[in-house]
Amino acid sequence: MKHKGIVRYGIVGVGRMGSIHARNLAKGYVKGAMLAAVCDSDTTKLNKIQSHWPDIAVYEDYAKMFSEGGLDAVVVATPHYSHVQIVIAALQAGLHVLSEKPASVTVSEAQRAIDEARKHPELAYGIMYNQRTNRMYAYAKKLLEQNALGDIKRITLTVTDWYRSQFYYDMGGWRASWKGEGGGLLINQCVHQLDILQWLVGMPEGLTAWAETRNRKITVENDVVAVMDYKNGAKCVFTAIGHELKGSNLLEIAGDKGKITIGKFKMRYLRFAKSETEVNATTKRGYGFTTAKKKTLTYGIGNALNELHCWGQQVNILRDFTSHLRFGTPLLAPGEEGIKALSIINAIYLSAYTGNRRISFPVDPSEYDQLLISLKAKENR
Ligand SMILES: NC(=O)c1ccc[n+]([C@@H]2O[C@H](COP(=O)([O-])OP(=O)(O)OC[C@H]3O[C@@H](n4cnc5c(N)ncnc54)[C@H](O)[C@@H]3O)[C@@H](O)[C@H]2O)c1
Repeated sequence: MKHKGIVRYGIVGVGRMGSIHARNLAKGYVKGAMLAAVCDSDTTKLNKIQSHWPDIAVYEDYAKMFSEGGLDAVVVATPHYSHVQIVIAALQAGLHVLSEKPASVTVSEAQRAIDEARKHPELAYGIMYNQRTNRMYAYAKKLLEQNALGDIKRITLTVTDWYRSQFYYDMGGWRASWKGEGGGLLINQCVHQLDILQWLVGMPEGLTAWAETRNRKITVENDVVAVMDYKNGAKCVFTAIGHELKGSNLLEIAGDKGKITIGKFKMRYLRFAKSETEVNATTKRGYGFTTAKKKTLTYGIGNALNELHCWGQQVNILRDFTSHLRFGTPLLAPGEEGIKALSIINAIYLSAYTGNRRISFPVDPSEYDQLLISLKAKENR
């Protein structure tokens, strides 16, 4: 159903991220949308919003905002554990809802939000997977949909640029604990890259993982390696580290017909003149060679400036969601896809903390729920 008129948004949680969404909406950076109300259980956050925009209605209770705020849509930007209950409440109040990532902490909870959304087909449920708006990943998606790489041989995903110091962890709050956020580097930061991975190449069949806490006094992981296996036999080696200076951000997908390499700001696509299958079938030498056409793409100065101006890639998802409500354009990041990267994360924890055994998909939700209970119980906070 297309929404007539300006979409009136409410935001639940106006801390670090929610206040950026508030600013983007209040300053008119999202065409066809306006900020009507915000809710936060911490009144100092509400006072801050009101000092900038006195006309915005403020609430301490989201149920009250949903019933009285005259809203069309809600953005949920509270800590992860509360996402699903607020998403469900918004849907039950007849409101479109855009949830911050991760969809939840456990696949069992994330499934509850999906089930509720299916009961309200007239309402949109989206997730803030803003890295899907990065044009390098979007180009890679197009290439893979066109089967430009052919059969995939291997994937490397290295994400070691989410550096977090002990000072960051000592600031406290809900972050970096099993009780407060249900994990560390994976659930908070790498959920973005794991979503991109599955968005581009689909879900693996299984994985084996190692997760450790190194060089920091925290109870959750900041050092992870996982080997994911895919139906065609290809593997992805995923490395994530939060204590490495000058870290890397690299995604490489090598196929029979070509290869994609994406760094933080630059992408290279090689289109082979001959596929490896053809080279192997025809060469009379012991080694293989082909020429290749090279295409490069940068993150783009326009994108970087847009982000500086609008405080982040996240504004692109707000625009996409609003366009979906107004014009029926397909959602770039539908809420029900939030469970996929979360499944990979739950599987990594299951493997890493139960003897590095291979976990196959779909993850057993109750098995992960049990593991999380025991991880929380061990946590001495
Ligand atoms: N998309 C991104 O790139 C991105 C970046 C940063 C954070 N996030 C996500 O945004 C969420 C919030 O992160 P943050 O860094 O803004 O945290 P934060 O702690 O700075 O803000 C959370 C706010 O929610 C409020 N809150 C908590 N429970 C509430 C409730 N029941 N009702 C109303 N308000 C409530 C808190 O008072 C706080 O002001 C997290 O899930 C995080 O993963 C996403």
